[in-house]
Amino acid sequence: MSSDRIPRHIAIVMDGNGRWARKKGLRRIDGHRAAEKSIHEAVEWCGEKGVQFLTLFAFSTENWKRPRTEVSFIMSLLSSFIRRNIDDLDRRSVKLRAIGRLEALPPGPRADLDAAIERTSRNTGLNLVLALNYGGRAEIVDAARRIAVEVLEGRLAPDGITEESFSSRMYLPEMPPPDLVIRTSGEQRISNFLLWESAYSEFVFPEVLWPDFSKTHLDEALAVYSARDRRFGGLADGEDS
Ligand code: FPP
Repeated sequence: MSSDRIPRHIAIVMDGNGRWARKKGLRRIDGHRAAEKSIHEAVEWCGEKGVQFLTLFAFSTENWKRPRTEVSFIMSLLSSFIRRNIDDLDRRSVKLRAIGRLEALPPGPRADLDAAIERTSRNTGLNLVLALNYGGRAEIVDAARRIAVEVLEGRLAPDGITEESFSSRMYLPEMPPPDLVIRTSGEQRISNFLLWESAYSEFVFPEVLWPDFSKTHLDEALAVYSARDRRFGGLADGEDS
């Protein structure tokens, strides 16, 4: 398979942890705990294939509505995930990044996250982007606020508000748009994930629940992606009459 069919950026909605746990007679939090193995699979696979960016939807701006115990479990899992994996990620030259309203994360997980981002900031391998307290609408609103301040202060003219200047006010402007968005568990929704960036993404919805997700599912998603004809609003190659 030629490397031009390898997506530069894969974004994943890791859905189905709760259902996986229920099916096994476990608690929802056990499903979140089991998610870590699938994250390893995805990170390794992306490293092997030369994918540049892997974004994982770990916690949405809407997820605060979940029971308080589940929210605090996910936050503590974030800390323990970072502590358990930071040496290995660093060894693999993974560069950890994060998008979202990070200032609202609890101080402990936030500090662990900041330290891991700083420690891996000079790495040159896979960019692993965690979407935390992330919402696509919130990101667009935050960009609009930044732009409004710049216009108000005379640093940007209204005519200077373009798709490019808007994109450059997103949380991680250097992140290319996702070529492939995967949502596990069979649900077929975007759920406020990367709304601006996914305008021309290809979507794949494997039935597998996230804790059962493995490199095989990524191979399958890649095969589907490679067979897609991406036209970005234009015509297919050679189709000009
Ligand atoms: C979706 O499954 C999963 C989440 C909303 C949380 C995802 C969190 C993690 C994988 C762990 C934290 C992240 C890191 C990086 C350590 P669901 O609970 O909505 O499943 P369901 O639809 O079956 O209920």
